[in-house]
Amino acid sequence: METSRSIIATSALPYANGVIHLGHLVEYLQTDYWVRFQKMRGHECLYICADDTHGTPIMIRARKEGITPEQLIARSQEEHLKDFKEFQIQFDEYSSTNSEQNKALSEKIFLKMEGEGNIEPRTIEQNYCEHDKMFLPDRFVIGTCPNCGAEDQYGDSCDNCSATYSPTDMKSSRCAVCGNPPIKKGSEHLFFKLENFRSFLSEWVPKHTQSEVSNKLQEWLDQELRDWDISRDAPYFGFEIPGHPGKYFYVWVDAPVGYMSTTQKWCARNDRDFDSFWNGDNTEIYHFIGKDIVYFHALFWPAMLKNAGYKTPSQIFVHGFLTVNGEKMSKSKGTFISARTYLDHLDPTYLRYYYACKIRGIEDLDLN
Ligand code: 2FM
Ligand code: ZN
Repeated sequence: METSRSIIATSALPYANGVIHLGHLVEYLQTDYWVRFQKMRGHECLYICADDTHGTPIMIRARKEGITPEQLIARSQEEHLKDFKEFQIQFDEYSSTNSEQNKALSEKIFLKMEGEGNIEPRTIEQNYCEHDKMFLPDRFVIGTCPNCGAEDQYGDSCDNCSATYSPTDMKSSRCAVCGNPPIKKGSEHLFFKLENFRSFLSEWVPKHTQSEVSNKLQEWLDQELRDWDISRDAPYFGFEIPGHPGKYFYVWVDAPVGYMSTTQKWCARNDRDFDSFWNGDNTEIYHFIGKDIVYFHALFWPAMLKNAGYKTPSQIFVHGFLTVNGEKMSKSKGTFISARTYLDHLDPTYLRYYYACKIRGIEDLDLN
C-alpha cells in the first residue's frame, strides 16, 4: 500500500470585485475533482482557497458604490461562497487575504526578502490624477490606441487590435475614474530582484511545470529577469509595508501568501503546527491556475518562498481558458455567463460532468 500523503491543493483566489463566472469554474471544478480523487485514495488532501481582496480596482469599486472596501469584500465573499456551494465545490478552508494572519505572513516574507538584500528602492515616474489624488495603474488610464486608433482603450493593451503598450504611448489619455488627463509624477517604489533567483528558477521551472509552460518560461529565463515592482503608494487598499510608511504591498505580493495564511487557518482549527505542516517532508503543494498568471506562480512565488525558507510548490497545474462558441467569453457579445445565471437555469451537475470530460491540460475548453 502507498503511504498516506499530505497534500495542499489550491485554486487561484478570485478577486473580491467580481462575480464567479463559467470561466472561473473550469479551475474550481478541476481542483475539486482532483481533491476528491486524492481523498478517495485515502490521502490527506486539503482544498485551500480565499478571496483576493486588495488593490486599486476594489478600492475604486467600493468608492463608486458608496461603501467601504471591507463591506464590498464581505458581500463578495458571501456571494462567492454561495455559488461555490451550489456547484458542490468542497473547500477544506476558505478565507480572505484581508486577514491578520495574511498580514503577518506577508510582512515576514517581505522582511526576509529585504533582509537578504533582494529589495531595492528606486524612483519611477507614473501617471497621477491630481483630481483623485492617486497614482493610476495602467488599467485606470484610458485613451486612443497608438497602433490602430481605437478610442477608449485601456492603458496597457487594445481590445480592438490586441497591441500591448504603455499608457505613455497612448493619445489623449485620461483618468478612468474622473476623465481628467493624468500628469507624470515621480515616487519611490520597492523592487524585488528576481534576477538574483535565476539559477534557482532555471532549475526549478522545468521540474515543476508542464512542458508547454516550462518552454514559455524558458524564453523569459534566457533574458535578464526584470525587477518586480512590489510597492504601491497610498491611497491603496492593502497592507502597509513594514519600515516603509505610506507604501503598500502590491496585491500580487499578499495574494499568493493567502494560500499559506488559509492553510494556517486550517492548521489552527485542526490542531496542527503550520510551519512544520507546510514545510513537512511528506507535504506536497499543488497550485491550479490559468495560463494568464503563470509568471506570478512559477517565477515570483517560488522565489519569494525560497527566499523566506518555505517549501516551494511541488507542481503548478496550468489549464486553458474557457471559450464560448470558440471565442473569448464577452459581456458585449452576450456570452458572459455568471455562475448565478447558470444556477438560475440549469443543474450544476451537468456542467461538472461537461468540464470533467473536456479539460485537457493547457488546451482551451469550448462551451458550445
Ligand atoms: O488573477 C486573479 O484572478 C487573481 N485574483 C489570482 C490570485 S491567485 C493567488 F496568487 F492568490
Ligand atoms: Zn481622476
